[in-house]
Amino acid sequence: MRFRIGLMNDMSMGALNDVASAQNTDGHAPEAKAPIVSATHNVETVLWVKHWTDQYFSFGITRPASFRFRSGEFVMIGLPGEAKEDGTQGKPILRAYSIASPSYAEELEFFSIKVADGPLTSRLQKIQPGDQILMAKKPVGTLVLDALLPGKRLFLLGTGTGLAPWLSVARDPDVYDAFEKVIVAHCVREVRDLAYREMFEHDLPNDELFGELAREQLAYLPTVTREPFTRQGRITDLIESGRLFADAGLSQIKFDPAEDRIMLCGSMAMIKDVAHMLEAQGMKEGSNSEPGDFVLERAFVG
Ligand SMILES: Cc1cc2nc3c(=O)[nH]c(=O)nc-3n(C[C@H](O)[C@H](O)[C@H](O)COP(=O)(O)OP(=O)(O)OC[C@H]3O[C@@H](n4cnc5c(N)ncnc54)[C@H](O)[C@@H]3O)c2cc1C
Ligand SMILES: NC(=O)c1ccc[n+]([C@@H]2O[C@H](COP(=O)([O-])OP(=O)(O)OC[C@H]3O[C@@H](n4cnc5c(N)ncnc54)[C@H](OP(=O)(O)O)[C@@H]3O)[C@@H](O)[C@H]2O)c1
Repeated sequence: MRFRIGLMNDMSMGALNDVASAQNTDGHAPEAKAPIVSATHNVETVLWVKHWTDQYFSFGITRPASFRFRSGEFVMIGLPGEAKEDGTQGKPILRAYSIASPSYAEELEFFSIKVADGPLTSRLQKIQPGDQILMAKKPVGTLVLDALLPGKRLFLLGTGTGLAPWLSVARDPDVYDAFEKVIVAHCVREVRDLAYREMFEHDLPNDELFGELAREQLAYLPTVTREPFTRQGRITDLIESGRLFADAGLSQIKFDPAEDRIMLCGSMAMIKDVAHMLEAQGMKEGSNSEPGDFVLERAFVG
């Protein structure tokens, strides 16, 4: 237990340091806002916000003592409805979000898209430390160890914000007890979209407590599709060419249904294509009630 708390404190400190310097540059102080009251949802306080690009940002919020979740689960979060012209309050706007922090973390982290005209994220991208947001009382989801049969290697394959659940799963020491090797592949359009690259490539392997696990058991494979990069191509291309396995230091050239377990999250098209590839090899989708060889969750509807 001491090990787990130490790890989280180290990583949270890193995140907070980055953010503090980013906020100092614009010198913007949080505005005083009316407190949110909700009978149905938890009301949590924003602790930090980090903007990666004009498309992606991350933020941390307080975690209620009663809120338990399994690494990889998602929860509905959101903001109260805006005041209408007739003076009444609009309905709260809530959306599903993968929890990006591991189950033992003291705070809850999220990794978000910014949709310019999105009902939630057009507003959510403006949150500042001290603001409040709504969060459902119970998390759910299938991107959890419980939904997978035992195996040797765990492949966490995501596009865009589909990295979010892997930030939780890949920072959970229990996952390294369950699997000999954990492979995180993150596919994005442009190099700048590779949020959390520094954490995977530098912070985790050098972490005082988590470093040994990360160096020995974790492989991080970022890949880019729309500009030159050291690794290029969609996750489907990397699977077909065998590069996914070679770059993870594995001798196999395709998935082994007896020993490989896969989690998929991201664009619907990627999930469909990879799920077809896995089913063609005889692998079966799992659920909480019936564990299988792979599990999936789309990172957005549309
Ligand atoms: C199970 C589940 C987990 C999710 N986890 C996350 C998460 O961890 N982080 C996150 O940012 N979003 C996540 N989403 C999507 C999220 O619920 C919202 O759709 C997103 O916050 C945008 O909300 P909005 O109201 O601004 O726009 P919406 O009206 O919800 O979406 C507008 C359009 O924007 C696009 N879009 C929405 N979300 C994304 C996205 N994440 N990536 C790329 N395009 C998108 C789609 O084309 C969509 O039709 C998840 C969705 C599901 C179903
Ligand atoms: N840099 C940017 O301009 C940028 C960055 C992020 C988000 N956005 C906006 O956000 C929205 C969502 O973007 P997103 O990047 O999160 O999602 P996305 O468009 O689905 O792309 C994410 C990654 O998934 C890959 N992909 C798409 N279909 C696939 C398939 N069938 N199999 C395997 N891989 C597949 C893409 O490759 P391909 O490139 O080959 O399609 C891309 O590298 C977009 O509408 C966009 O406007 C823009």
